[in-house]
Amino acid sequence: MEHESQPGASKSAPFLISVQQLAKYYYLGRTVVPALRGIDLEVKHGEFVALMGPSGSGKSTFMNLLGCLDRPTSGSYLFDGMPVSQMTTNQLADIRNHKIGFVFQGFNLLPWMTALENVQLPLAYSDLPAEERHQLAWWALTMVGLRSRAQHRPMELSGGQQQRVAIARALVTGPSLLLADEPTGNLDSHTSIQVMAILQELNARGITILLVTHEADIAQYSHRQVKFRDGKVVDDAPNPAPSQAQERLQQQPGLDETKVIS
Ligand SMILES: Nc1ncnc2c1ncn2[C@@H]1O[C@H](COP(=O)(O)OP(=O)(O)O)[C@@H](O)[C@H]1O
Ligand SMILES: [Mg+2]
Repeated sequence: MEHESQPGASKSAPFLISVQQLAKYYYLGRTVVPALRGIDLEVKHGEFVALMGPSGSGKSTFMNLLGCLDRPTSGSYLFDGMPVSQMTTNQLADIRNHKIGFVFQGFNLLPWMTALENVQLPLAYSDLPAEERHQLAWWALTMVGLRSRAQHRPMELSGGQQQRVAIARALVTGPSLLLADEPTGNLDSHTSIQVMAILQELNARGITILLVTHEADIAQYSHRQVKFRDGKVVDDAPNPAPSQAQERLQQQPGLDETKVIS
């Protein structure tokens, strides 16, 4: 998705993500930990996929590979048709900085910066003029319904608001893929639904989303559920009727002041 929130991502390749026999082994002294043992997975532009599976099954390792934060031991990964495994470190950084946004369970905001400054951070090394960076940060905060909290620091915000700031920070570069690793893991159930409402809205605007969760309720908001076990995909099923988070919120009014996406 570009910054103007037009629907539809680039359709240059049939799949945004295509991995084949992706493997990752961690070597700890003389011990080998097979974190991923041959993953085959294709994700179309605009999909919303929930990745599930027990702790230690390789979900975070997989997200890190998809996000170009780490390299696989073997196997291939095409991102929008481009062979990531053959890219240089600079090309990887370029994809990471322009095409992919990350959201983690711990919000990872800098405590001494305001919400607006945190959101603007990924643009610090871009060659955009300061005014444009500022505008983009406001746009991203607007997308998560938090304009009114722009000047607050993280400790003056609730957990859900902090996660929304983190989502805005992931969005500010206009990524086509959002990787969210247990983004609701530290949130209560109502706040989790608010976060899911934002993710569903972003997905409706064309951003492809991969979400790790071990909560079945949360996975219900996706179009497709993929299950990992022992570093392999053991199940991959469409969800023909995803729950609608915005509808859920309207059924439980009054718990929060903020309308999601103003
Ligand atoms: N940096 C690392 N060094 C060594 N082993 C790791 C590292 N990261 C993960 N692992 C191991 O790889 C396996 C998969 O971990 P992870 O991808 O974090 O699983 P999940 O996110 O599903 O809980 C686990 O056995 C874990 O202990
Ligand atoms: Mg994990």
